[in-house]
Amino acid sequence: MTKGDSFQEFEQRKGDHIRLALSQSSQTESLSGIDRIRLKHEAFPEMNFADIDVSCELFGKKLRSPFFVSSMTAGHAGSLKLNHRFAKACSEKSWIMGVGSQRRELFDENAGQEWQQIRAEFPDLILLSNIGLSQLIKTPLEKIQKLISSLKAQALIVHTNPLQEALQPEGTPEFEHGLKALKNSLQFLSVPVIVKETGCGFSKASLEKLNDIGVPIVDLSGLGGTHWGRIEGLRSKPIEKLHKASKVFADWGISTVESLLNARSIGPKFQIWASGGVRSGLDAAKFIAMGASMVGIAKPILAAALESEEELLSTMEQFEFELQLAMFCCGAKSIKQLQENQVWEKI
Ligand code: FNR
Repeated sequence: MTKGDSFQEFEQRKGDHIRLALSQSSQTESLSGIDRIRLKHEAFPEMNFADIDVSCELFGKKLRSPFFVSSMTAGHAGSLKLNHRFAKACSEKSWIMGVGSQRRELFDENAGQEWQQIRAEFPDLILLSNIGLSQLIKTPLEKIQKLISSLKAQALIVHTNPLQEALQPEGTPEFEHGLKALKNSLQFLSVPVIVKETGCGFSKASLEKLNDIGVPIVDLSGLGGTHWGRIEGLRSKPIEKLHKASKVFADWGISTVESLLNARSIGPKFQIWASGGVRSGLDAAKFIAMGASMVGIAKPILAAALESEEELLSTMEQFEFELQLAMFCCGAKSIKQLQENQVWEKI
């Protein structure tokens, strides 16, 4: 057990994260730059709305749509109910589900029971394991493999979050040998590794490093939505150093739009996923048109799930409908056409 891992600290932190993620003061939509990306209207779509097909393929499986629930919460008192709700809705809608950090399972074997229950009820759901890079660095890969196996996950997400760890009162801002740990994990683990940020995005140089070591998928998770520097700052008292610094770094990060442009510019071998500030199906359509294969949503899905099962399903349907509408109005019948028809422009 390391700093911040005691039962009480863990429960407190996870509760704070959910509460503060919902607050408007931790959101950075005005910095997303998504309004400067436009899809070109097509007055003659030459198809019927019913012809739109948003299905896609991942890990050899056909999916009904390119959406996933971005990794959120796990291993604390309220998480089973919430994750069960996410899993049920994802199963019904055939969305992929990224699970929240499985850090707790590294020192508390009982924490994994949450997933065994969910996996038993939803055997066909595509679940993505999750661990922080700072944990990956110091954990034997056999233990990481156990997290994946206990979940029967189709891939492992490794999240990198230097700003968050450095501003978190009980954080572990220890990222030395991160790329080496990632490289070793690619060779050792039984499933593909997806590297993601948590709302600060990626520069061209960072993406080149991931490309060089052969990471197969990068989820950009850039600035424009939930900001973890802001959230951690709000967890300290206003007079404290971390709180003051979080105000200074409140707009820190590279937007998802810019991260996507960075990714395109290096002609990557990895598949691009987009998350961070996706707030509508139109945002999703723009990211797909720019080259993303899958699109992830965290905060809006959390807010809906906390309200009710019905609200969650209707939010997911809204995202799907708006994606279809965007495709119809720019004349793209399939996800492939949306990616290949050059329907976006920067304004
Ligand atoms: C997150 N996020 C996250 N990411 C991760 O890789 N592991 C995790 O454990 C968590 N935990 C977490 C908890 C809560 C309550 C939220 C809202 C988010 C980050 C998330 O997956 C995503 O990258 C960012 O939140 C940006 O997406 P949105 O919120 O702007 O859609």
